[in-house]
Amino acid sequence: MSVSQTESKTNEPRQSQADLVSFIECTGFELPTYHPVIITIDGPAGTGKSTVARQLAIKLGLDFLDTGAMYRAAAAIMIDRQIPKEDIGELVSQVLGADLHFDWQQDPPTILAWDTPIDHRIRNEDVTKRVSFVAAIPELRHHMVRKQRVIGAQHPRLVTEGRDQGSVVFPDAAIKFYLDADPTVRAQRRIDQLGVADTVDLAEMCERIVRRDQIDSSRDDGPLVCPEDAIVIDTANYNVQGVIDLLEAHTRERIAALINTD
Ligand code: DC
Repeated sequence: MSVSQTESKTNEPRQSQADLVSFIECTGFELPTYHPVIITIDGPAGTGKSTVARQLAIKLGLDFLDTGAMYRAAAAIMIDRQIPKEDIGELVSQVLGADLHFDWQQDPPTILAWDTPIDHRIRNEDVTKRVSFVAAIPELRHHMVRKQRVIGAQHPRLVTEGRDQGSVVFPDAAIKFYLDADPTVRAQRRIDQLGVADTVDLAEMCERIVRRDQIDSSRDDGPLVCPEDAIVIDTANYNVQGVIDLLEAHTRERIAALINTD
């Protein structure tokens, strides 16, 4: 049985994790180290994209790009430089001047602005609250998309995660995933991840997540969409390791097929 037969587009898993893992072991297929391969992972907040994307990259020996970090860096610049919401021109000019880039010697790569690491800043709550606004600014998105394509050219063996990686930035990616989960499941994960169970209740977190989904999905430029040719995975059905195993199995199968038709 092929892995692609294991999960339908309607997200109904038809095979157990154990079967999938044994599929990987049976095929024994290794990714050739010379072959360029871009894997995109998109989906809304709280689906565990970053964790699984990074682990998948490690397992397959690929580089890992967290594109949310770039939008978060722009939001941090806006807050820290006290740029008012109305002054989009100033924000764009500051972000361009910051020359956002990653230090690929670090694992995971850390993001720098004006050559200074800012990864310690970008996960703070004030940045999280502001980032959807920033990510909806077309001039900034064009800038980020250009940068991401340059990164893709410099790191042609890449797992890249975000909202528009398969739909806009790398439409020709070898394999595209779209991770999803019910907002309540995602809200609970966020609470656990941030360790804020004492201060934020589930309904409030769920509301924040739904609001962010709405902003991310309704913007004109690079909205959060599921690419037509993506493999859709409902992560509520799996634990983290289960999702990683599933992505790995799909990837090995797809790459083996691509190489056979080369
Ligand atoms: O994945 P994340 O939570 O770090 O993303 C932060 C924000 O950036 C989120 O509101 C969506 C936005 N984003 C985007 O618009 N496009 C991307 N490629 C990545 C993230």
